[in-house]
Amino acid sequence: MKITGKIEEVRAQVKAWKKEGLTVGFVPTMGYLHEGHQSLMKKAVENCDRVVVSIFVNPMQFGVNEDLDSYPRDLEADAKLCETTGVDLIFHPEVDEIYADGFCSFVDMNGLTKELCGKTRPIHFRGVCTVVCKLFNIVTPDQAFFGQKDAQQLAVIRRMVKDLNMDIQVVGCPIIREADGLTKSSRNTYLNEEERKAALILSKTIFLGQKLVEEGETDAKTLLAKMRENLETEPLAKIDYVEAVRMDDIEKTDVIEKDVLVAMAVYIGTTRLIDNFIVS
Ligand code: PAF
Repeated sequence: MKITGKIEEVRAQVKAWKKEGLTVGFVPTMGYLHEGHQSLMKKAVENCDRVVVSIFVNPMQFGVNEDLDSYPRDLEADAKLCETTGVDLIFHPEVDEIYADGFCSFVDMNGLTKELCGKTRPIHFRGVCTVVCKLFNIVTPDQAFFGQKDAQQLAVIRRMVKDLNMDIQVVGCPIIREADGLTKSSRNTYLNEEERKAALILSKTIFLGQKLVEEGETDAKTLLAKMRENLETEPLAKIDYVEAVRMDDIEKTDVIEKDVLVAMAVYIGTTRLIDNFIVS
């Protein structure tokens, strides 16, 4: 497995693979990799001949008061996990390799970003789209892998790929959870012992929501009220949002039906966690 911070080296390697007729899978990440990321890498290894993982904490997708500086980093552990999972190349650029002096071009989206995380983090998806577009241009993968944990991000990337005619198949992968239900997230590391316990209220509420839907609840207002009520039983939890939107356009819906995304963001102390389910 190779590690490089240089765009030109990634391009040369991918070009050589493509010349041999090999397919390329790509997993973009911000590092501090866990089993959630590993599930994406495994899927990429399964689907494609060669796999590239990018590790880049993208400053453009963090708001001013967010956790850019404290975002956890551990390249050595990340490299080990990539190697054992069968990744062929890690792209780990410095910020100025991605955003050179004078950088002033962006990918922005009018739809899909005004609800859910886009409401609380107004510049976030512009940063995500811009960096993912750049990474796609550098890596030129056949397939790119994203987790359903960031369901709005998955919908936004699918839309960008469609709107901008990118010749890339976006593969969505299921949420990976800890044994007790908490979604795997690099940000779980911010939680102290008491908060870690309190954070279970998210998955418990997601499972409750899923159960209510399975039992026949189709009214979004009723479902969301019950979920909110459940979240409010945890004193350390502060709700950012609990919403039901259509997965394709991330617009609110009154009716719970197939392909509706029921999503939440909740602060546990100062840590903002997300979780969701999609009605199947
Ligand atoms: O999901 C993430 O880790 C990031 O938003 C991504 C897709 C790597 C872009 O920086």
